[in-house]
Amino acid sequence: MSERITVFKGDGIGPEITDAVLQILDAAGAGLKYEIYNVGEAEYEANGALIPDAAFASFETTRVLLKSPITTPVGKGFRSLNVMMRKKYDLYANIRPAKSNAAVKTPFENVDIVIFRENTEDLYAGVEEIVDKDTAHSIKIITRKCSERIIRDAFDYAMRYGRRKVTCVHKANIMKLSDGMFRDIFYEISRKYPQIEAEDKIVDNVAMQMVMRPQQFDVMVMPNLYGDILSDLASGLIGGLGLLPSSNLGSGYAMFEAVHGSAPDIAGKGIANPTAFLWSACMMLEYMGKMDCAARIRKAVDQVLGEGSAITPDIGGSAGTADYTAAVISRL
Ligand code: NAI
Repeated sequence: MSERITVFKGDGIGPEITDAVLQILDAAGAGLKYEIYNVGEAEYEANGALIPDAAFASFETTRVLLKSPITTPVGKGFRSLNVMMRKKYDLYANIRPAKSNAAVKTPFENVDIVIFRENTEDLYAGVEEIVDKDTAHSIKIITRKCSERIIRDAFDYAMRYGRRKVTCVHKANIMKLSDGMFRDIFYEISRKYPQIEAEDKIVDNVAMQMVMRPQQFDVMVMPNLYGDILSDLASGLIGGLGLLPSSNLGSGYAMFEAVHGSAPDIAGKGIANPTAFLWSACMMLEYMGKMDCAARIRKAVDQVLGEGSAITPDIGGSAGTADYTAAVISRL
């Protein structure tokens, strides 16, 4: 029997990469039934809701969401739907694996980093106030509960997948109370995992070290904002945002999306790279226990990247999304 999942099509390149990924999932025999919803700005203009009630209801039933990017207006307008989804369903663990692919040439080789980004608090809690006409405050919130669970997940992951080290990233030299607490909790929890090396580093140093010697990093855990910034940096090490997938896990709910946004600069041009979203879909298949299907898709993608004739411009090719999709399907 087919299992049902919820799919959000999003804005910008969202619909294009969603169509590509669903075609590949079907061709790979994933055995999924899709409950597909348009969400975002266009949906708001058409029907008055950014995310229709039926879309929430679907996710609350299927508990698995494949979500393509949604545009968020800068400096004004509605708050980020991504942040809202993560908070509403307490999707606290944002897991972002950045691994070099031999077929995609970058100045950095053998990068294999998994970033655990806390997904529900920090400056993303949205606690902002105008104090007077020339002063605005944004409050950074770090709690023991949210820090403990993301740090524990990072160590559990390291154990399960045979990784050797977890690095805690912080700015506790300046934010002594908030980041200081995150760092203290990290070392408390690390004592329960003596097999795994535990280290901490200050975020600005990490940014430099990730560029100078990214191979030293293995699993990394950090509060929300540093995770947001450093995972884009990590995508740059492996060939760009078109290659960085993610899962957002909470208790009972799971959402899978590419790390990149809606890429309005290339929307509608048929050149978006669906790989990050496709690998997110593979993480979803693995979460659902469909290991063979995920492995088949990963192998087909590796072949297409390796052959290099059907890759998109962001990673040095000249093919369109449709050519790439057809090439992956033909290798399945
Ligand atoms: P972006 O990630 O959309 O694009 C940054 C650059 O990477 C652009 O040059 C874009 O063309 C390129 N790029 C991204 N994904 C690509 C792909 N699959 N294939 C080829 N090239 C790709 O970031 P930007 O421009 O800062 O944000 C655009 C919108 O997306 C904003 O409204 C932002 O809030 C939203 N956003 C949404 C996210 C989500 O829904 N999870 C995450 C990040 C941003």
